[in-house]
Amino acid sequence: MLHDPNRVYVFDTTLRDGEQVPGCQLTTPEKIEIARELESLGIDIIEAGFPASSPGDFQSVVEIAKAVTNPTVCALTRAHQKDIDAAAEALKYAKHPRIHTGIGSSDMHIRTKFNSTREEILERAVAAVKYAKKFVEDIEFYAEDAGRADIHYLALMVESVIAAGATVVNIPDTNGYCLPDQYGSKIRFLKENVKNIDKAIISVHCHNDLGLATANSVAGLQNGARQIEGTINGIGERAGNTSIEEVVMILKTHHDLGLHTNINTKQFYELSRMVSTQMRMPVQPNKAIVGANAFAHSSGIHQDGFLKNRENYEIIRPEDVGFPSASIVLTARSGRHALKFHLERLGYTLNKEELADAYARFLTLADSKLNIDDEDLKGLMVGQLAKV
Ligand code: KIV
Ligand code: ZN
Repeated sequence: MLHDPNRVYVFDTTLRDGEQVPGCQLTTPEKIEIARELESLGIDIIEAGFPASSPGDFQSVVEIAKAVTNPTVCALTRAHQKDIDAAAEALKYAKHPRIHTGIGSSDMHIRTKFNSTREEILERAVAAVKYAKKFVEDIEFYAEDAGRADIHYLALMVESVIAAGATVVNIPDTNGYCLPDQYGSKIRFLKENVKNIDKAIISVHCHNDLGLATANSVAGLQNGARQIEGTINGIGERAGNTSIEEVVMILKTHHDLGLHTNINTKQFYELSRMVSTQMRMPVQPNKAIVGANAFAHSSGIHQDGFLKNRENYEIIRPEDVGFPSASIVLTARSGRHALKFHLERLGYTLNKEELADAYARFLTLADSKLNIDDEDLKGLMVGQLAKV
């Protein structure tokens, strides 16, 4: 079968990188529930955990591997044989197992985290991939802190691990350091300079310390990466990981990019709520795609334009991400078109003068009350008009 060059694989790490957030730990049954939802969303790869980190994590990977069929199930390791042994053992029941092994690639990590040299780290990287390859065919290698690594050393590392058998090479911006053009150029450099790069898929794994995780991930895809790693709601330690729903909807909205995923976007909203509840991590109201206000129009100018043609202020249809519906919020900034819209929805038809009168009383009410609901509107109309 021919490989589609424009297909982007989506790798979810909500249950591994996402779950590293303090206070967000999940039980195995909760993880299984999320994994099943991720499968139904169409996620290609689920990173189920880091089996060597604890017996609980080991068991979660085992149970997730048993619970899902279509996605690849991936387990994280350091470049240590005992980690790789644990991952291989935990993945025994996976239909499509992947081991995700790796090591630091920046001089900062090499010197101050590993107290080592570039040469020694390169040897360890290659040895880890070769060792993991004894257990499974599908090996992803991560070059930790690639965002700050020397590009020539990074290219050498990527080339060496592909020669050792890596099928996916992950280029993490572990500290969320890069600017989009820097990160995109790194991916382009690897694509153009690494021997046999086409034998592996380049993966982008970005963190959000500067609020650039989504932009960097998209820059990576535009420059040749074909796997994107992230989490639902962008959950993750510090400022979080790339938000999967954002990247997927960017590719869908900008179809001129020519890239596509296999994701059933209509399930995003429900899954977002499930992850938020189980992880006890609220979604900020103005969060793109899944925030409570993502499809709420509140200023008079926007409401008027939206009511004339929703595309004036709506680049994504709420139903495409499973959001209940767009809303016209009534506040003191709302115009009379918005008030008319809501009154008609409740069955009141007003002529111009009646609407002007109702609008004046509405403004007085809205100045003293934050949320104007249907009961308030009905109260406003008492005695003024007969219902249609
Ligand atoms: O951010 C990172 O570098 C990681 C790796 C372990 C893949 O999460
Ligand atoms: Zn990470």
